Amino acid sequence: MIQTIFTQPFLDQQPGTSGLRKKVSVFQQSHYLENFVQSIFDSLKGFEGKTLVVGGDGRYYNRVAIQIILKMAAANGFGRVLVGHDGILSTPAASCIIRKNQAFGGIILSASHNIGGVKGDFGIKYNIGNGGPAPESVTEAIFAHSQTIHTYKILTAPDADLSKVGFSKLGDLAVEVIDSVNDYAQLLESLFDFDRIRELLTNGRFRLCIDSMHAVTGAYAHRLFEQRLGASLGTVQNGESLEDFGGGHPDPNLVYAHDLVARLFGDNAPDFGAAFDGDGDRNLILGRHFFVTPSDSLAVLAANATLVPAYRTGLAGIARSMPTSQAADRVAAHLGIDCYETPTGWKYFGNLLDDGKITLCGEESFGTGSNHIREKDGLWAALFWLNILAVRQQSIAEIVQEHWHTFGRNYYSRHDYENLESDRAHALMDNLHGILPTLKGKQFRSQQVSYCDDFTYTDPVDGSVSSHQGIRLGFTNGSRIIFRLSGTGTQGATLRVYLERYEQNAAYHQLDPQVALRDLIDIAEEVAQIRTFTSRATPTVVT
Ligand code: G1P
Ligand code: ZN
Repeated sequence: MIQTIFTQPFLDQQPGTSGLRKKVSVFQQSHYLENFVQSIFDSLKGFEGKTLVVGGDGRYYNRVAIQIILKMAAANGFGRVLVGHDGILSTPAASCIIRKNQAFGGIILSASHNIGGVKGDFGIKYNIGNGGPAPESVTEAIFAHSQTIHTYKILTAPDADLSKVGFSKLGDLAVEVIDSVNDYAQLLESLFDFDRIRELLTNGRFRLCIDSMHAVTGAYAHRLFEQRLGASLGTVQNGESLEDFGGGHPDPNLVYAHDLVARLFGDNAPDFGAAFDGDGDRNLILGRHFFVTPSDSLAVLAANATLVPAYRTGLAGIARSMPTSQAADRVAAHLGIDCYETPTGWKYFGNLLDDGKITLCGEESFGTGSNHIREKDGLWAALFWLNILAVRQQSIAEIVQEHWHTFGRNYYSRHDYENLESDRAHALMDNLHGILPTLKGKQFRSQQVSYCDDFTYTDPVDGSVSSHQGIRLGFTNGSRIIFRLSGTGTQGATLRVYLERYEQNAAYHQLDPQVALRDLIDIAEEVAQIRTFTSRATPTVVT
């Protein structure tokens, strides 16, 4: 029976950089999830009888949320849902499945790299038919609906059995439980030279270490690296997916991926290490005693793309988010292709990919991807690197250092001040806005400001304009400092300060980035008065 339930709006259902993210306890309020799901459906047109893909990263509340969504999809008139086995789909796998089945769209349950468990975070986002995150016009419509919603529709029925792959019915809705890994693994296999990668992984010398951080990629990584590519059992560590990610913070960076970092920087370290986040779209790439910054990773992948079967004929263009370093721009210039600068968030790459303007894209926040899907893709990035290593037969450090030698090095770091009082963080940004007009031409230490603005992006495909995307301070020598507030947090506010300096001279390529960026770090403090506004002497996380 389809029931219409009366409800009242929650005023805080505005999607952020990547969907709606809140504490689990917020989602557990009665009608909270239902309101948001109904707001998604109410802002879409023409889905009756069509296919919806549903899955999540397996964090706490995934199981409960999926059953609610299935019953609401049934009550609202979808024809079919494809749902991952046990409700599990990594974000890239969901994107792949939406595209492969020409689904109307998908609902992904994840709070990405945020902590999980009863006391952790939960999240939900809607992806459109191209497999990518809904653009701003859609997320704004969802938010608008959530502000005036007064009823939602749900089917009264027993829970669907998601523990077995196969078909069942929920009212008139066809429920198809699919293997979470198959389609996605096949897609990756079609892009890379698996034979060559297998040769590398089984040559008895090369050693690989993969860290799934007890999050969604466990099953994917076991299947791909150990079963398909012949890496020895045990290659994948922390491969058991847990609802609370084993109490860890599934964010693959130097701070939170400590197990992997300890191995790769320890004695007798492996040749290659990679870690992925909660929902499998982020990646951390490490060589023996060597960290590849995500910005450099994008640039190196672009420069070596023709070594990979899928990209053999070259790249149409590259895109990076605005705060990502300009290392990729140099490769694009060298290749004679366009490089686009978009606001933070994967949704801005969608149009460029759909329109064939770009092939690769990436963000400094450990996200890299291509036109194979419409999400960033952690395992794809690791395989791309392995394909390059298999062909070039050099170490990661050698490849990156050679890259710097050719293109120069973009020293880069991000300083995060997490969990600030929201008012104080906004006051800091307001103050920056206020002084922006006075900064141009000003000299700070060795640096002169050549431009300063609040970044506005006009989408070259549909002309839509996104403003207030971060304050940029550019210097005459190409260095940059960027300030923005995070749009994914669930507690207080997070200030992100992005620092970048270009160094052409190879004699100065071996500095510690924090040393190379010292001047800029001091200037950031001087301009933004971070200490005064936040009462914090140092950032919480430096990547
Ligand atoms: C962060 C990253 C951004 C990424 C997003 C989703 O958003 O900075 O690059 O797209 O997570 O993974 P933020 O918290 O900065 O708004
Ligand atoms: Zn993620």
